[in-house]
Amino acid sequence: MTTGGSIEVGQIEALEREATDRLAQIADEAALEGWFREFLGRKDGKLSGLLRGMGALSPEERPRFGAAVNATKDRVTAAYEARKATVGGAALTARLAADAVDITQPGRPVPMGTLHPTTLVTRELSAIFALLGFQTIEGPEVEETRYNFDLLNIPTNHPARDKWDTFYVGSRGTDDTVNEIVLRTHTSPMQARTMQRQDPPVRVIVPGRCYRYEATDASHEAIFFQLEGLAVDKKITMSDLKGTLTEMTRQLFGSSTKVRFRCDFFPFVEPGVDFSATCAVCGGKGCRVCKGTGWLELGGAGMVHPNVLRNVGYDPAIYSGFAFGLGIERIVMIKYGIDDIRNFYANDLRFLEEFAGTRI
Ligand code: PHE
Repeated sequence: MTTGGSIEVGQIEALEREATDRLAQIADEAALEGWFREFLGRKDGKLSGLLRGMGALSPEERPRFGAAVNATKDRVTAAYEARKATVGGAALTARLAADAVDITQPGRPVPMGTLHPTTLVTRELSAIFALLGFQTIEGPEVEETRYNFDLLNIPTNHPARDKWDTFYVGSRGTDDTVNEIVLRTHTSPMQARTMQRQDPPVRVIVPGRCYRYEATDASHEAIFFQLEGLAVDKKITMSDLKGTLTEMTRQLFGSSTKVRFRCDFFPFVEPGVDFSATCAVCGGKGCRVCKGTGWLELGGAGMVHPNVLRNVGYDPAIYSGFAFGLGIERIVMIKYGIDDIRNFYANDLRFLEEFAGTRI
């Protein structure tokens, strides 16, 4: 095209046709950009290329040719601008359509968490004991052996420690007594902590997580919840203990529930008992849940041992008290008919969602 005088106006027209034909077919912005570079690009666009080839024309021909090229360039540019508006507009319209929100649609429900059944029952127990004058408090799960054992009348090497074998997480090895750090095996350490902190009268319940070295099965877990109770005052007797626990079980399982106390041993109480309620499922006739006995064991209890009172600086000649500890999961299992304690920590949503919307 640069060879002597062969550049013609016809070439310009052909290029204009090619440019506009191709432009008409362009449907997206990327193709439009490519087209722009090819025809209108400053350096190597085809239209600029025509101007560069003008050197081969005679001086008389140049102005006419240049004007023709520029006029063409203006038309092609105008066509480009028009196309750009359509393609860009179409892209925008498409984007808007894709992103459109139908504000007439009903809202999507936000998934709501549910309270764990253990939490539900803990709250229920807390409400029952509040009516009986007990305050709900909590204590550390990582505990000193001093509180978990020694102050509760369980000295080092006492065989009762076997019953509460647990995870030792470190030693605080003080001077004369070995005070180690354990994951608490029961909520009873809070008996000592509470009494050390305040003078009688004391009326507290302590729900909380406990840990034991346990072979797990349908009714045993290495992690479980207990609810401790402690009442200390002048003239507290065994009948206060029995009355309190009877009222609690009636609130929990219904007014016809009976409670049974049998002798048992715990180093921190004297006398010690275990207590059971008539089976909430069969009413005491005997069924699968109570294994035919008609009774459900709920926990241990007793009168606070004088040694424990002395250990925390209370005078057993003036004060007496009762304490009890019950397994919360056990109550949950009875209440909701759950037959395997391992469900509580399996994090299976199907299990947890069973309790959606349950209110106490
Ligand atoms: N702490 C005892 C246990 O874990 C239960 C208990 C508490 C017994 C208070 C008597 C008094 O087995």
